[in-house]
Amino acid sequence: MEPVVRLDRVSHRFGGRDAVAAVSDLDLDVARGRFTTLLGPSGCGKTTTLRMIAGFLRPTSGRILLEGADATSTPPEKRNIGMVFQSYALFPHMTITDNVAFGLRTRRLPGDEVRRRAGEALELVGLSHAAGRKPGELSGGQQQRVALARAVAIRPSVLLLDEPLSNLDARLRVQMRRELLRVQRETGLTAVLVTHDQEEALELSDTMVILNAGRLEQQGDPREVFPRPANRFVAEFLGYDNFPVLPGAGPVTIRPEHVRLLPARAAEGADEAGLDGTVTAVTFQGSHCLVEVDTPAGGDATLRSVHPGDGLRPGDSVRVALPRRHLVALADAAAPAGADR
Ligand SMILES: Nc1ncnc2c1ncn2[C@@H]1O[C@H](COP(=O)(O)OP(=O)(O)OP(=O)(O)O)[C@@H](O)[C@H]1O
Ligand SMILES: [Mg+2]
Repeated sequence: MEPVVRLDRVSHRFGGRDAVAAVSDLDLDVARGRFTTLLGPSGCGKTTTLRMIAGFLRPTSGRILLEGADATSTPPEKRNIGMVFQSYALFPHMTITDNVAFGLRTRRLPGDEVRRRAGEALELVGLSHAAGRKPGELSGGQQQRVALARAVAIRPSVLLLDEPLSNLDARLRVQMRRELLRVQRETGLTAVLVTHDQEEALELSDTMVILNAGRLEQQGDPREVFPRPANRFVAEFLGYDNFPVLPGAGPVTIRPEHVRLLPARAAEGADEAGLDGTVTAVTFQGSHCLVEVDTPAGGDATLRSVHPGDGLRPGDSVRVALPRRHLVALADAAAPAGADR
């Protein structure tokens, strides 16, 4: 099926002779009816990518195709794209209904059609009861729902969301995440969400796209990307924090919850790599402890393990067992480049 949006070797370089490219040679297909997330640290080019898709920013090179047609120089108002930002950007003096209807009126739809669609969009986000209120009379979460209703009401060919949940407190963020997914599934909209929250990306994505310093590091179904990060940058970003170099296996990574600690001189299983180690730190984390162990491994020789923690103290000798099926071979052993330039 033809992607709704295709980026074909798209780059953007902000002014200034020494400027580093904010986005470099990015190839990206946004699948119809799916949820795509752009994930990466601050400054990696997520917003720049969205602004190019929306048409607010022209690529320095490369092409943007919308519904298969070259739209590289199509102005934003001709792209039929819906946007939701971190700030809700509602008109404070207008009612909720008028805010939602705004985009429909600028499209010169007949009045009864505008009212019907605005009503449907408000119902979709569960805010029909607040139709006559002003934005200032709503909570942050409710205002963000209004912004979502406004973007959905125009029936955009793609909905772009730039960190729409990051202004909300942790609980509300999780609740709104579910709601966003429900709205996307119910409407069948094509959505591209920008986030730097890996949990959010894992939960929402049909496809997650991981960016670093303007370049694509890895993309795919989160169920495939999460257990198989391609390189150290992606691994670190997804919360892997063990990076030893093992004899015969080269640079690998493994999640702390898969690292087993055995008594000193105990034998690891046949399907495990084993290392002698000395505990250097035991940190209480609520449901478990994080235990750091010095080992003779190459690379980063300190291995971290999730452990009940009872009875372990710095200085204790242990045997570290690494189940081979959880070891992920990495393409590179080097530490990642800082993304915030
Ligand atoms: N208007 C601008 N002029 C010059 N440089 C810019 C401009 N906007 C962004 N940049 C630079 O481009 C790079 C990418 O910025 P962008 O806003 O796309 O990052 P981001 O991934 O959205 O980050 P964040 O998570 O902090 O929102 C950064 O190095 C940034 O400093
Ligand atoms: Mg941004």
